[in-house]
Amino acid sequence: MYRNMSGNEWERLNSVNIGVSVEESQEFYRTWADSYNKDCEKLGYTGPKKVATRVSELFSECERENIRILDVGAGTGLVAMELKKLGFECIHALEPSESMLLEAMKAGLYKKYFKEFLTESPTTIPAGSYDIITGCGIYGDDAHVPCEALLEMIRLIKPGGYIVLATRNELVQNNETYKHLEPLMDNIETNGKWKKVSRDVFPRFNLKKDGIMWCYQVL
Ligand SMILES: C[S@@+](CC[C@H](N)C(=O)[O-])C[C@H]1O[C@@H](n2cnc3c(N)ncnc32)[C@H](O)[C@@H]1O
Repeated sequence: MYRNMSGNEWERLNSVNIGVSVEESQEFYRTWADSYNKDCEKLGYTGPKKVATRVSELFSECERENIRILDVGAGTGLVAMELKKLGFECIHALEPSESMLLEAMKAGLYKKYFKEFLTESPTTIPAGSYDIITGCGIYGDDAHVPCEALLEMIRLIKPGGYIVLATRNELVQNNETYKHLEPLMDNIETNGKWKKVSRDVFPRFNLKKDGIMWCYQVL
């Protein structure tokens, strides 16, 4: 059960809830959606800007308008907001929470919306549809994006495209679910499906926590 459904915004942003169900996790976002953007601003959440900046380093300004991006766990659209400032236009959202998606829709941030979960099973989206996948803050409690969904991300990317992911560093070091993430990333590289372009640990994913960001190129 969630410890912090009615807790303060710090607890919400930095929650690590063990053993929650997908339903509980989604209920958490349903009740948070309308104040999510304001809370993130107050708490100095820099993840979306970091991800967008990393994506912008991969493409020249004149290429950006036509780059096809899928933002996984799009939430209210904070990543798209930052990408648009940098000249990216063709951004689609994949997000299971209707309430979070509604906030993104109100702001008109994405060209297309997929209301679905990303898991190890195939989504409704055809293979090789995108140049880039972004995922920011998509690893949280146990009921967020599973580690094995990396393989579905790879399926959705054109050969030569990129996957840029960021989260709180503590999650991949300590959390029972997500400590398997980096070993799986390495394993996928050993199997020749992608190659690591960068891995950065950085201060202030939000005001209290360090972040980690990976960029992989799909082969
Ligand atoms: C902390 S929010 C991050 C939202 C946005 N990317 C940002 O940085 O503000 C995590 C989001 O992941 C979504 N999510 C949870 N499980 C998911 C899954 N299996 N597939 C896709 N999105 C998921 C949640 O509904 C929530 O909107």
